[in-house]
Amino acid sequence: MATEKDTVKPWGGRFAEPTDRFVEEFTESVSFDRRLAPYDIQGSIAHVEMLARVGVLTEDESGRICSGLNTILADIVTGKFTWRQGLEDVHMNIEAALVERIGEVGKKVHTGRSRNDQVATDLRLYLRAETETTRSLLLQAMQALVTLAEQEADTVMPGYTHLQGAQPVTFGHHMLAWYEMLKRDEQRLADCLERINVLPLGAAALAGTRFPIDRSLAAELLGFPAVADNSLDAVSDRDFVIEFCADAALVMLHLSRFSEELVLWLSPAFGFIDIDDAFCTGSSIMPQKKNPDVAELVRGKTGRVYGDLMALLTMMKGQPLAYNRDNQEDKECLFDAVDTLKQCLEAYLKLLPSIEVKREAMLAAAQKGYLTATDLADYLVMKGVAFRDAHAVAGKAVQYAIEQGSGLEQLKLPELQQFHERINADVYDFLTLEGSIAARDHTGGTAPARVRAAVAEARSHLEALAGE
Ligand code: ARG
Repeated sequence: MATEKDTVKPWGGRFAEPTDRFVEEFTESVSFDRRLAPYDIQGSIAHVEMLARVGVLTEDESGRICSGLNTILADIVTGKFTWRQGLEDVHMNIEAALVERIGEVGKKVHTGRSRNDQVATDLRLYLRAETETTRSLLLQAMQALVTLAEQEADTVMPGYTHLQGAQPVTFGHHMLAWYEMLKRDEQRLADCLERINVLPLGAAALAGTRFPIDRSLAAELLGFPAVADNSLDAVSDRDFVIEFCADAALVMLHLSRFSEELVLWLSPAFGFIDIDDAFCTGSSIMPQKKNPDVAELVRGKTGRVYGDLMALLTMMKGQPLAYNRDNQEDKECLFDAVDTLKQCLEAYLKLLPSIEVKREAMLAAAQKGYLTATDLADYLVMKGVAFRDAHAVAGKAVQYAIEQGSGLEQLKLPELQQFHERINADVYDFLTLEGSIAARDHTGGTAPARVRAAVAEARSHLEALAGE
């Protein structure tokens, strides 16, 4: 970026002295807000087209400004544009370049507008596009989970509470739990989009403008379904940025939990999955290691997004109306949250298809943990025993099986009958893993038939979203 001595500031009229070098560096934002350039130009083009339609600019003036802005955009995109720190931010860099390229008429671009409504507009255009990209990545991740769920609808694994083997479930059901979380994340983003999608332009510095602007026309040109109803609010609040980051924090939370499971499952202590070598890394000292670094990094990066959210909430909390420069601090946090989230979703899109499910290992683990003890209690309840008593009986049977070093379903009928006289041969339907799973045959249950039905429902949900 070019740093020059004493750039003439577009706002320099009332200043007798040049800006202190430190202050210039401290207040600049162009080093990071130049990412908004395409949106800034899009917003300016809509603004001048609107000004021409209402007669504030001539068609010729508007045409010359728009083509000037387009040449600037082309240079920015191809990396030929020189950014100048002395011009503070993306808005003034572009405006100064416009005047340099097309002369005096370029100075009319800022008629009836302020950087305050300009930056709010840029940010909303940027975030609208990024929210759409994030949603589409989420939808692809949901799709990958559904594919896995269908493949593994019959795969038995231990379900856990407190990370202790609890009851058998299918791996397909487990995958659909993650699908549900991402589904809600997607819905939250779609909802947030409605509040992002509002035009602030026209609010000018804070009070609106005396020019006869047509805000609905500007909104239409920029594809905003609504215009902001209050000029003070429009230039000052960044709640839409905060809301996006809160939604992003929840997606990261979900990915972080999922990552924790992948890390556990890849550990030889579990051995439930393998991940393609291409998505793991080794140790520089221990030759046997295959580490799930991608999952660990997703888990680790969750903290960054929480940090971005916290910084934004705190940035906003003490601000009086209307615009304050504090708001300049919104950008780096938002950009970081957007970049991190997209990167982590992309990591998952690669990671999910690279998972190899170790069905035998999952089954063996499920066979070990007396996971059908609840089923034995349920069996007795169905035979008329009160649940509390049935629970105690099943507990005794588990204790006995542990002493014998066998599974519940391996105990002989007379052995089981010593715990309760109502136990009969039909008890074995309750003690097998398959029987336990198949019996949970209701909406939201883990029975393979229910998993397949849930997969079908998920597919039609995804199709409906894709068709939107
Ligand atoms: N760089 C500023 C920001 O990000 C742009 C708006 C500046 N407005 C002002 N009145 N100084 O918020």
